[in-house]
Amino acid sequence: MRPTRGVVLAGGSGSRLHPLTKTTNKHLLPVGDVPMVYHPVRRLVEAGIDDILVVTGVHHFGALVSQLGSGAEFGCRFTYKVQDRAGGIAEALGLAEDFAQGRHLAVVLGDNVFEAALGPVLARWEALGTAAHLLLKEVADPERYGVARFVQGRLVAVEEKPAAPPSRFAVTGVYFYDAQVFDIIRTLTPSARGELEISEVNTRYVAAGSASWEELRGYWSDAGTHESYRHANALVSGHGPAGTDR
Ligand code: DAU
Repeated sequence: MRPTRGVVLAGGSGSRLHPLTKTTNKHLLPVGDVPMVYHPVRRLVEAGIDDILVVTGVHHFGALVSQLGSGAEFGCRFTYKVQDRAGGIAEALGLAEDFAQGRHLAVVLGDNVFEAALGPVLARWEALGTAAHLLLKEVADPERYGVARFVQGRLVAVEEKPAAPPSRFAVTGVYFYDAQVFDIIRTLTPSARGELEISEVNTRYVAAGSASWEELRGYWSDAGTHESYRHANALVSGHGPAGTDR
């Protein structure tokens, strides 16, 4: 397998989970019987990725480090970086450049909870040989996410939270990139909501014809709103209502 490093993005303000996030970091809230951030970390480690950068904000940095430690408990090595303000997912990822050292990256948002093993996904990405690989999931409420636009079955763009979604396929927060991603991030400008958007990064790869995608198997949910947080808890506890693995 190609040497791949992991990145878990656990910054952001967590404002949509107030008041749960008033005194703690969203990613430390329990999902099932462990803190939320354990889920993406475990998926990366299970895939054989044992060098993982965790990016988080200034407010609860200490608590996150206290919870995760060196990585020994998980069988990996953590490196930590601080994002001063919630300037967007792409900005947070930009902090990983030195850590990446030109290697491929498996990037997971710290609030994404999912069932599928990433090892087989990594193997498929390697076989495809593309510069980026995206994991999509069909959802009932695509307007909440980055959404895939297809033309004649071909992925042509990713639109962030579109009012009129061009498909029902959300782009999940599990991304695979080559080291070009940092050159792309350097060219981004803040969106209307003042963030460097990961959907713009994905659209650049797609437009260059260098992105592949597959459907994420098994359940998946983010956990960034009260509703999705409850849903993520139900899924990991095995109580997710049939057909709602969104
Ligand atoms: O969950 C998948 C969705 O995640 C994608 O479909 C969207 O394209 C993507 O923009 C994102 O949407 P959200 O609205 O859920 O993003 P949110 O602001 O909640 O951030 C998700 C995680 O990213 C959060 O748990 C921590 C990390 N993050 C976010 C921001 C804004 C950072 O590390 N730094 C940041 O500045």
